[in-house]
Amino acid sequence: MAAHQKLYEGKAKILYATDDPNVLLSSFKDDATAFNAQKRGSIQGKGEINCAISSHLFQLLEAQGIATHFLDCPSANTMRVRAVKILPLEVVVRNIAAGSLCQQTGLELGTVLEPPLVEFYYKNDALGDPLLTSDRLLLLNLATSEQVEQLRAKALKINQILTDFFQQCGITLVDFKLEFGLDPSQNLLLADEISPDTCRLWNQSDPDPKQRVMDKDRFRHDLGNVEAAYQQVLDRILAKAAQI
Ligand code: TMP
Ligand code: ASP
Repeated sequence: MAAHQKLYEGKAKILYATDDPNVLLSSFKDDATAFNAQKRGSIQGKGEINCAISSHLFQLLEAQGIATHFLDCPSANTMRVRAVKILPLEVVVRNIAAGSLCQQTGLELGTVLEPPLVEFYYKNDALGDPLLTSDRLLLLNLATSEQVEQLRAKALKINQILTDFFQQCGITLVDFKLEFGLDPSQNLLLADEISPDTCRLWNQSDPDPKQRVMDKDRFRHDLGNVEAAYQQVLDRILAKAAQI
């Protein structure tokens, strides 16, 4: 097969063109970054693990009526996806206070957020991905007000589905980040990835605040055993999926 043209290289994935202009290949890397790439490293096996986790979660969401860019996985670290124009937004859903929410508001780590909080961040590395207000979203033409409401509703529905599923895996979905894109017919598709790189996941069988962390916070805060935690998330998803 002819080499695929590299279209874009991000911090955790590379996008390649295929012979079909409507289909791209997303190759998941072991590279890891945090704090807007001020911290860099590698998590051995992460590319394959995150590709497998994302594939399972996209298929779970598709089965429950959420349109995603996922097509299939031609190899362990490669996903075939529908080509979409990514909106420059990071949609974050939070069920429990952690991370930047605690830093910026003083809320105590672990505070339950009911109803869940939906936030929009500007996907712009040069500006450090700032938190947006609804008015700033419109001001910068990042989405129409109709799209903002569509994104919020979709994000909350995705949260419900993923929270229920992770609960069955003995994992608490603390918060996560989503990205969306528009296909050529302007349909809004869930894109990018859903993995321990983009979610906070706490092991329900371990109450210790450091031990329970099963996500990229292990890398961000040098908690150790990063690979094992990611693998444990995949193992639990596969075990649960086998029962469904
Ligand atoms: P935060 O608490 O740092 O704002 O992160 C909220 C969630 O979003 C958390 O699950 C990690 C995820 N996230 C990303 O996927 N990419 C990012 O660049 C950042 C800052 C957070
Ligand atoms: N992925 C982001 C980065 O490196 C931040 C993070 O996940 O903490 O820039």
